[in-house]
Amino acid sequence: MEAVSETSLPLPVFQRGKVRDVYDLGSELLLVSTDRISAFDVVLPTGVPEKGRVLNQMSAFWMRKTSTIIGNHMVESLDDTDSLRRLQSRLNLGDPLPEYLLGRSMIVRKADRVPVECIIRGYLSGSAWAEYRKHGTINGHSMPVGLQESEKMPAPLFTPTTKSETEHDRPLTDRDIAELGLEDVMQQLEDATRTVYTYAVAYAEERGIILADTKFEFGWLNGELILIDEALTPDSSRFWATSQYEIGKSQPSYDKQPVRDWLAGSGWTDNMPAPPLPAQVVAETTERYVAIYRWLTGEDL
Ligand SMILES: Nc1ncnc2c1ncn2[C@@H]1O[C@H](COP(=O)(O)OP(=O)(O)O)[C@@H](O)[C@H]1O
Ligand SMILES: [Mg+2]
Repeated sequence: MEAVSETSLPLPVFQRGKVRDVYDLGSELLLVSTDRISAFDVVLPTGVPEKGRVLNQMSAFWMRKTSTIIGNHMVESLDDTDSLRRLQSRLNLGDPLPEYLLGRSMIVRKADRVPVECIIRGYLSGSAWAEYRKHGTINGHSMPVGLQESEKMPAPLFTPTTKSETEHDRPLTDRDIAELGLEDVMQQLEDATRTVYTYAVAYAEERGIILADTKFEFGWLNGELILIDEALTPDSSRFWATSQYEIGKSQPSYDKQPVRDWLAGSGWTDNMPAPPLPAQVVAETTERYVAIYRWLTGEDL
């Protein structure tokens, strides 16, 4: 199995993100989830086979499930050769579209992006735990003393951050909200984030999985706020096994944890070029992505 780290389709490029290559189809986009992996905001030189297909198919799974709660951008996930051929004839392309697009590509409606990462946390973990341990705050807000790592929050916390191309994401301030003209929209973003998170938490719980936190992106389409980008994938969420959950320490999670752990132990710092990943770390990461896909959806990839 080979990783697909780069794509070059004979279509205008809308944007290349850290993980997705996005092509412009006019009023729609072709979102291709590659096998690229980023850690600590840096894209690594080694791809992780199957990761892109897991991300795309998991997003498609959740977008189908939540479409009655909130609209989303999905038109069609390209899962079989027929869908690929249809796109090819629609675009009048001479050469066939590459087979590697199968399972990792989605036609979506182009939306006007809200430049905010809508993060919601049911448990104290990751960067929120780091901030709390240092300053006693989460996203700049004071919190009660004595909270423990991975502790369940009395109620999920909405901790939106900036979405910047140039700097690390940071908590959204009132000033950012004013500058972005989002005063009248924040409540709507929070409500949508809470609703989808609450739905997904209950779904995951039935399968023995804790959805500790997640991150959504929204956009405007014809005056309606819709879910865009990806939904409830291991790149945007922390999934823990309920059976292994123990408060007061970090939890094994079904995502890029093997990569983060290896990087942390390798002496790498984010001002150095990212090192290639050992094959073993890549294999373990593929395994985790595929495992959580199967476990959550009950389907094979
Ligand atoms: N429906 C949509 N309309 C417009 N832009 C979108 C839509 N869905 C996703 N995007 C954008 O496409 C890009 C996807 O690439 P990705 O690798 O996820 O980027 P990032 O590095 O920002 O996470 C993101 O910039 C995202 O905002
Ligand atoms: Mg993204």
